[in-house]
Amino acid sequence: MPVTRFFAFIFVVGMFRMDCAKIMASGEFKNKRVLVRVDFNVPMQDGVVQDLSRIKLISPTIAFLKKAGAKIILISHLGKPSKYEEKLSLRNLLKVVAEEYTSNVRFIDDCLHEDANSIISDSSPDDLILLENLRFHPEEVACDDDFARKLADLADFYINDAFSTSHRKHASICAMPKFLPHAFGLSFVNELSILDYFFNHAPSPKMTIVGGSKLSTKINLLKNLVKKTNKLALGGGIAGAFLAYHENNSLKIFDGEEYADEVAEIIENAEKYKCELILPVDFSSLVSKYDQSDYAVISSSNANTSIFDIGPESVELFKRHLRESACVLWNGPLGLFEKTPFDFGTISVAQEVAALSREGKLISIIGGGDTAFAMNKFGITKDLTYKSTSGGAFLTYLEGNSLPGIIAMEDAFTLVD
Ligand code: 3PG
Repeated sequence: MPVTRFFAFIFVVGMFRMDCAKIMASGEFKNKRVLVRVDFNVPMQDGVVQDLSRIKLISPTIAFLKKAGAKIILISHLGKPSKYEEKLSLRNLLKVVAEEYTSNVRFIDDCLHEDANSIISDSSPDDLILLENLRFHPEEVACDDDFARKLADLADFYINDAFSTSHRKHASICAMPKFLPHAFGLSFVNELSILDYFFNHAPSPKMTIVGGSKLSTKINLLKNLVKKTNKLALGGGIAGAFLAYHENNSLKIFDGEEYADEVAEIIENAEKYKCELILPVDFSSLVSKYDQSDYAVISSSNANTSIFDIGPESVELFKRHLRESACVLWNGPLGLFEKTPFDFGTISVAQEVAALSREGKLISIIGGGDTAFAMNKFGITKDLTYKSTSGGAFLTYLEGNSLPGIIAMEDAFTLVD
């Protein structure tokens, strides 16, 4: 399906998904103060933003509200502080936000600053107002109603455009909708629509690829995906745990033994729900732990060592299954992609996903912090149908759970342009 038609379709699906949603036309926002919860929890190094994806992501909502003549007040967290920390101040983001939105960004250096109301009143709709890191107040994480009420006093409307934080029961996500008329932002609706599309409307065969080092972080996800997709390919340490179970070999894995029952249940369910379980047939492993260039490809059936990547035969196996699929959802790298040569499996499979997507033969959805980072590193993001910037929220949704931030917004409005 051409990409534009695909997105139009999923947007409509998203509107249906929010059964109780009412449409909020842009006229409603003229000269109104609109508090927008965004996720500016971006990677930083020495005070410099390393990845602009989350800042760019909210541009449709900002454009919508600007056109509507609203006063936009952005709220976010950055990191996990419980009190002021200079390196986690949102002041560090002022330059990139201003560059992205060609706006005069006014910064208020405490989200509950006593002058916040008058600063907002004095501002013009051309200004973008950014409040300081919400987590400098412990009440944010405690989901404190009084804290949310004080934030609500600054505005006429609340918009949640932070899908990626909506797995958190925090005040700015779950308490705010109690105090203001509220709507989902456009990037939120987009992400939810894509995921809804994959599970409920996408053409079959549907393939999922799950990698990563620890089985503990993915076990619930696998339990859900095995019931909902046609092919489930495993890489990374997770694959090792399944092979250790299957082949009774002595692969060294980070965790897994304690999940033997769950692994058995997933294997059983794969058969019951007709989901083809695709396990690697070979791996790369270090021969000498001191020399990274000294590595060997080992067969999965007699492996008795630590594994660092899937091997070339497994790459071909994954590629063949991709060519047989109509859509793919991928979470988690297939090996230690940060270190050459153990990036081979992830790069090779990613390149196949990119090529098939470019040719219009595959709908590709990628999510999770490491996976998104890997795709950026390999320079293939532009070819994917959708790259989520979410980590924990994406996983929570894939586990089959609704997000607290969605539950809190059940009677929400939906913005339309
Ligand atoms: C994320 O980066 O996944 C979100 O911003 C949530 O951040 P948190 O894990 O610090 O709550």
